[in-house]
Amino acid sequence: MTIDTLREPGAIREMFARIRGRYDLLNRLLSLGSDVRWRRRLARRVAEARPRRILDLATGSGDVCLVLKREIPGAELICGADFCHPLLSLAQAKGATPLVVADALRLPFADGAFDAVTIAFGVRNFADRGAAFRECARVLRPGGRLCVLEFTPPPRVIAPLYFWYVGRIGPLIARAVGTDAGAYRYLGDSIRHFPGAADLAGELSAAGFTAAGFDLFSFGTVALHWAECPGPA
Ligand SMILES: C[S@@+](CC[C@H](N)C(=O)[O-])C[C@H]1O[C@@H](n2cnc3c(N)ncnc32)[C@H](O)[C@@H]1O
Repeated sequence: MTIDTLREPGAIREMFARIRGRYDLLNRLLSLGSDVRWRRRLARRVAEARPRRILDLATGSGDVCLVLKREIPGAELICGADFCHPLLSLAQAKGATPLVVADALRLPFADGAFDAVTIAFGVRNFADRGAAFRECARVLRPGGRLCVLEFTPPPRVIAPLYFWYVGRIGPLIARAVGTDAGAYRYLGDSIRHFPGAADLAGELSAAGFTAAGFDLFSFGTVALHWAECPGPA
């Protein structure tokens, strides 16, 4: 299958449903535990905006909702949304509620319903990133904050080692723990085809966001973008 076939929404949803049993374990193993720190950085960037109503899009097994609850205890609503029901069942079991089954490209929320929207490791899988970013802008109130945490193509000097690890070792580890190695081959392919951090910031601006900035960490392999939703003209 090509990367475009795989990014077809039905295929993505089925892939995440297939790997749900070992999803959290593989996150910890492949990132050597760093994914916990990456999501905490995301939550702290969101907390700066002092949001009361937060939507975590592509919430998966709910880890971002849980860290948001810890880092922003005064928030009135932290809602997770994802189009893969089996992963939301995991999130529910971990207490990451409320949860909504929803496609990022057609969100079932009113205009301006949230002060902040987060997306961790989700946008790489969206069939149409521009449409999803415009939906985020629609459900954010003017001045609201979007934060996007995502893998990013690494600096050239470490790219061979990085893609060997993600593309070869990742699927081996996945097979060893009894999950779908193909899903972890897709991980490497999808990172390889993903835009660089500056280009992603440009996509946020093209979707109408302002003040788009980003940080790179873990040797330039992970990017945290943030941007603000403009007020009415
Ligand atoms: C790699 S997981 C990330 C989960 C979680 N945010 C985390 O940090 O572990 C990607 C998630 O994006 C979801 N997803 C992909 N495309 C989506 C879409 N169009 N609408 C809603 N969720 C989507 C998948 O179902 C999956 O749960």
